[in-house]
Amino acid sequence: MTPPLQQPVRRSALRRRGTLVAAGIPIAVVALLAGAAGPAAAASAGSPGVNDPYFPLAGNGGYDVEHYDLTLGYDPATGHLDGRAVITARSTQQLNRFNLDLNGLKVTSITVDRAAASFRRDGQELVVTPRHTIGKDREFRATVTYAGIPQPVTDPDGSLDGWIPTDDGAFVAGEPQGAMTWFPANNHPLDKASYDFTVTVPQGRSAVANGVLLGQTTTGGRTTFRWRQSEPMAAYLATATVGTFKVEQFTTPGGLRIYNAVDPREAAAAAPVLKKLPSVLDWESKLFGPYPFRGAGAIVDHAPQVGYALETQTRPVYDRAPDLGTLVHESAHQWFGDSVSLTTWKDIWLNEGFATYAEWLYDEQHGGQSAQKTFDELYTTPEDDELWSFPPGDPGSGEHIFEAPVYSRGAMALHKLRQTVGDRTFFRILRAWATDHREGHGTTAQFIHLAERQSGKHLGGLFHTWIDTAGKPSRP
Ligand code: ARG
Ligand code: ZN
Repeated sequence: MTPPLQQPVRRSALRRRGTLVAAGIPIAVVALLAGAAGPAAAASAGSPGVNDPYFPLAGNGGYDVEHYDLTLGYDPATGHLDGRAVITARSTQQLNRFNLDLNGLKVTSITVDRAAASFRRDGQELVVTPRHTIGKDREFRATVTYAGIPQPVTDPDGSLDGWIPTDDGAFVAGEPQGAMTWFPANNHPLDKASYDFTVTVPQGRSAVANGVLLGQTTTGGRTTFRWRQSEPMAAYLATATVGTFKVEQFTTPGGLRIYNAVDPREAAAAAPVLKKLPSVLDWESKLFGPYPFRGAGAIVDHAPQVGYALETQTRPVYDRAPDLGTLVHESAHQWFGDSVSLTTWKDIWLNEGFATYAEWLYDEQHGGQSAQKTFDELYTTPEDDELWSFPPGDPGSGEHIFEAPVYSRGAMALHKLRQTVGDRTFFRILRAWATDHREGHGTTAQFIHLAERQSGKHLGGLFHTWIDTAGKPSRP
């Protein structure tokens, strides 16, 4: 499921050339041209990336995944993972070859529509050549069987990302790149899909993925958990975190199905915060519109080596007992980042600025300090502070996407918008953003456009100053 935005523009140009050829160029020339671009040669290789400027090899061109069906077995004692991914996709061009993203692990076989396909590895690219060319706009099914000891990737900012082993399982989070450390994927938020997970772990451990638990069965000392994420999800938001967890399941008064999994070592510290999850989700639903997914909850692991939490869809994963601000932040991402996805990592402030501003709003509406006060305090930071080191709308590279200008200055930009348009319009804009782009994507330009439409004001100057311009704005 990819937005029209990604539609390869070159295809229509090619098609037009084909028509021209048919319209009356001598046969020999037609044959020659056909070698380059005519109908006979229209099948080509899908590109190895989707042209994301920060992560050029992330994602792949030529197809769109509709569904991942992942069957995994994990042995925490050895760190060994067995996997089978059945990927249902639709081609966006005639394809004689396409790529998936997979880092490490050993691939033992690939079939495409039941016929054995040949494949080779090239860094994080898994290059698949199906036996038969796939027509344009066809649904096809690729089955990849693989195994090995997954290795997390190290992101440009130095943090571990992907399948991260812990002392009792694995902390599994993939922003921005790590999905490819545990399953073959079209690993870019442009391509969202639904997921089924069937994960088998030693009895006594739990495997916690996204969405809703369909069931669990134990045989021969191993337990299999089946999870379904039916709303579209970006690959980086998938999880299958494994550990020894205390599990609680309940339905909130508002009807949300909660599944919390907590490492017993974090349970005491986590309890008072997790108790607030239903009211936090309820408060956010009032502010941002209905909760976008069928399942909810939290995974609180004991993984001090990770150093961050992630808004894994429906069920954020925390590397330790979170504080309330972090819970509010990861929950707000369910609307901003998960339901409404990025089209490019450069727009990351649409995720982090919004989730940070949700924390400010939570404080303001729960007896803490006002968002204005938080803004004012931040504005006093000196010009040479890292807060002003780059504009939120242009972190420059993948190295900087999780830094203060994205989070705090991104939230400051939203506060400026609120000041300019007033509370009523501001909250209408937030809700419209979450509603209009629900289960889809949004760009910075689209957000500005929406804010202008809702407020009837020209906001180009405001966003230029707060989102696009380097350095500390001269006026708060
Ligand atoms: N999106 C996460 C958050 O808001 C941060 C993820 C950081 N990931 C990383 N690889 N550094 O809290
Ligand atoms: Zn965040």
